[in-house]
Amino acid sequence: MSTPAFFPVTFLLSAARWDDLPAEPRPEVAFVGRSNVGKSSLLNALIGRRALAKVSGTPGKTRTFNYYEAAAGRFFLVDVPGFGYAKVAQTERDRWARLIGRYAIERESLRLLLHLVDSRHAPTALDRAVFESVHADRYAVILTKADKLSANGRSKAAGEVRRVLADFQLGHVPVVLTSAETGLGMDDVRALVADAAGMVDVPTPE
Ligand code: GTP
Ligand code: MG
Repeated sequence: MSTPAFFPVTFLLSAARWDDLPAEPRPEVAFVGRSNVGKSSLLNALIGRRALAKVSGTPGKTRTFNYYEAAAGRFFLVDVPGFGYAKVAQTERDRWARLIGRYAIERESLRLLLHLVDSRHAPTALDRAVFESVHADRYAVILTKADKLSANGRSKAAGEVRRVLADFQLGHVPVVLTSAETGLGMDDVRALVADAAGMVDVPTPE
């Protein structure tokens, strides 16, 4: 396993409402995507910790914006609640969708929005709603659970997502195939995060 580049990472706070988000202007990198897509797992894999962010077989586990201080507090990593979890009441789902949409558009300190999409499925209607509301220059698509696909399946999945992105004038954004299980793509995601956070002296993985 490679050395976690953003060490030390510590939990800071959970925010359930816009007004609870930290007021300070430290740069932040956020993980969004539908419930169960693998956000918390990717965050853990990225920083080389097994259980910093809560992972579960039950979707809907992450119900707040969870802020972690990374690289000794130089920037924030933010685990955003998954959208579209069917067992949550529609009014609550709508509230979250609005909050996440607002976060993507209005959060000034957001340097990079990592949008996780399951590599085994086409982007959903909710994913497409995200495509419509992002700033292209601080956005990347992360295809998750690629360990469940063959090499051929992986390149097909990436090609299909790129085609959909092109329809949203996002044809040039980074698309990274990842697996929290095998570590596939983690160095690429780390490089995107380090760049967005303005880190020039990221420790080289061993
Ligand atoms: P919410 O917090 O509910 O929005 O979910 P999440 O997006 O944080 O997903 P989480 O990381 O909790 O993972 C959901 C399930 O997918 C868990 O059972 C994980 O073990 C599994 N999973 C996550 N990433 C991978 C991966 O790269 N490969 C495989 N095979 N399974 C994964
Ligand atoms: Mg989660």
